Amino acid sequence: MNERKILVWDWPVRLGHWLMVGGFTLAWLTSESESWRLVHVLAGGTVMAVALFRLPWGLFGSTYARFSDFVHGPGKVRDYLLSLLGRHPEAHVGHNPAGGWAILLLLSLALLCGASGWAMYNDLGGDWLEELHEGLASGMLAVVAIHLAGVISGSLLHRENLVRAMVTGYKNGPAAAAIPSARPLVGIALLSWVGVAAWWLAS
Ligand code: HEM
Repeated sequence: MNERKILVWDWPVRLGHWLMVGGFTLAWLTSESESWRLVHVLAGGTVMAVALFRLPWGLFGSTYARFSDFVHGPGKVRDYLLSLLGRHPEAHVGHNPAGGWAILLLLSLALLCGASGWAMYNDLGGDWLEELHEGLASGMLAVVAIHLAGVISGSLLHRENLVRAMVTGYKNGPAAAAIPSARPLVGIALLSWVGVAAWWLAS
């Protein structure tokens, strides 16, 4: 197959991803401090707002942003994982079937962790809610660790820097598989939404 660098990740996917990375890291670092509470809430609100935006973008977004492109049943996940043991690992232009489930789990945890944090911030619930929020955040950290292990091993196995691809949007693939537009206007809409939603959640 004739492979070249093609556009795969649009602006909303890339901006959303790096906002989640920054938001999650900041929220984790400020989680124990009373004086950094507002920063913690804004950072957590950012993660939640991105996850909320990602849901409709997973239905109506560009080809590789769609859940239908990367969420598959257990058979496909098993076939993909088994192919990694052979000499010709299955290549996917978008997310691979195993990574797809980690992504779905991360988005779900982001929503649940954000919702429990928001409820706490508004004095709903009691100690149990605080424990739930902390448990969800720890669960998220564990899935992030698995996600990173997957990204590193995927990069090595497929001889392609997947982190750079999440920055530039470009990956190796056949010319016909490229997305036609990086959707910059939707990227701007995402930034505006995240600003408004995170501020509203913290107010
Ligand atoms: C420095 C840390 C991280 C790096 C280097 C990283 C890297 C990546 C890469 C390379 C992909 C694309 C995987 C592929 O090619 O299929 C990806 C996808 C994704 N990552 Fe991360 N990640 C990091 C942290 C996180 C964190 C903290 C979260 C969530 C809180 C997260 C959530 C996601 C999601 C939701 C996707 C799917 C993107 C989409 O389709 O919208 N990542 N990540």
